[in-house]
Amino acid sequence: MELRYLLLAILVLSFSVNCAEKARYDNYRIYEIIIENDEQLELLKDIENNSYGYEVMRFPNSIDKKVEILVPPHKLGEFSEIIENFQFKSQLLMNNLQEIIDNEQPKERSSRLDWTRYWTLTEITSWLKQLVANQPDDLQMINIGTSHEGRPILGVKLNIGNGTGKKQIILEGTMHAREWISTATVTWILNELLTSEIPEIKVLAANYEWIILPVINVDGYEYSWTSDRMWRKTRQRFGRLCVGVDPNRNFDNFFNQAGTSPNPCRNTYAGPFPFSEPETKQYSEFMANLPNLAGYFSFHSFGQMLLLPYGYTQELLDNYDELYEIGQKAVAALRVRYRTRYRLGSIANVLYYATGNSLDWLKYNYQTNVTYVYELRDRGLNRFILPASQIIPNCLEVFDSLFVILTEAQKKGIA
Ligand SMILES: *[C@@H]1O[C@H](CO)[C@@H](O)[C@H](O)[C@H]1NC(C)=O
Ligand SMILES: *[C@@H]1O[C@H](CO)[C@@H](O)[C@H](O)[C@H]1NC(C)=O
Ligand SMILES: *[C@@H]1O[C@H](CO)[C@@H](O)[C@H](O)[C@H]1NC(C)=O
Ligand SMILES: [Zn+2]
Repeated sequence: MELRYLLLAILVLSFSVNCAEKARYDNYRIYEIIIENDEQLELLKDIENNSYGYEVMRFPNSIDKKVEILVPPHKLGEFSEIIENFQFKSQLLMNNLQEIIDNEQPKERSSRLDWTRYWTLTEITSWLKQLVANQPDDLQMINIGTSHEGRPILGVKLNIGNGTGKKQIILEGTMHAREWISTATVTWILNELLTSEIPEIKVLAANYEWIILPVINVDGYEYSWTSDRMWRKTRQRFGRLCVGVDPNRNFDNFFNQAGTSPNPCRNTYAGPFPFSEPETKQYSEFMANLPNLAGYFSFHSFGQMLLLPYGYTQELLDNYDELYEIGQKAVAALRVRYRTRYRLGSIANVLYYATGNSLDWLKYNYQTNVTYVYELRDRGLNRFILPASQIIPNCLEVFDSLFVILTEAQKKGIA
């Protein structure tokens, strides 16, 4: 090949590499600001709705609330003027988001699939397939549907001994793409149920039919690996520039009423209509067809909270008291190993109003007995980017609490 063609080929190649580059967050800062008056509240609502290059990371609902805001480096000058002009009290929470992202995975990455690092979607899929191949009597592959980009949404059904009539438990991972610890927790628990030698855990594992879904938002999860570590939504396109729906606002329950955005570019976009996303639509149909569903556990991050229904109202409905009582024992058990503190309460009371979430939809329509959302580690130091060194401690403490929830629920005759 002539040299000039070779150079041309290299040039073309380097352009195509550029196309696959990842989003970077060098010197992106996160500030917490306190809303003290109406003028400040209106300003933050405006920024939340229109972005202007910032990202308000929690809805500015009312005075006396704190909100977190992601500030790109080129907006720092403007942002400090805003702080001064509107006399906000503010605190720098994170100085350089990219540094946190760079330190997420261990420096020496093992090629084995273990819980010292996070796994890609391809790795998760091949791990599941291997498990099913090794233990076909107990495990069955399940495919709950196809994502917008055509990926299968896979999971496994674990039924040790293939008994009939067992109650079913869902363990659901990664509805929000960037919450990688969610998926790591679900795969860890599956492994624990399969391999633990502890007699009580073996009994628990054999007692139920476990429906284990490591990644619901498969397109988003993949995108958070290949293109943007901070991606949250699905990947359906709306208009020229806006992509994705918040799947956990897209369920058909008080759709788009609170804690959602009608703007397709925002992170909490509820979608054009309920179940507009193939992922939520097919997943809801899958759940609606489970004959014996006793428990639903949805894993999110972050904040260290154990949440109960509902997100659409602050009223304490259905078997709230029962779940709260069990939850108190669960967060106490969770705390034993590492003194990790979880808050307990309904979504709307402890976190924020959020309509169209999966927990609300399931509880409201099917009154499933045992329903919890975990907001996993941490409390904000690393936010969605929990260092991989914390995966195992997180999983150990969460499993302690899950064990208590199911044991207590059995005592009450609800699981
Ligand atoms: C949000 O912004 C859009 C346009 O950017 C505007 O049409 C809409 O009225 C705004 N909503 C609120 C509540 O400010
Ligand atoms: C599990 O049991 C069902 C019937 O209850 C049967 O159809 C199926 O073949 C069994 N699977 C295995 C792997 O034994
Ligand atoms: C739900 O709880 C009720 C008791 O309140 C119990 O009779 C029922 O069997 C439970 N359902 C499941 C699927 O465990
Ligand atoms: Zn989430």
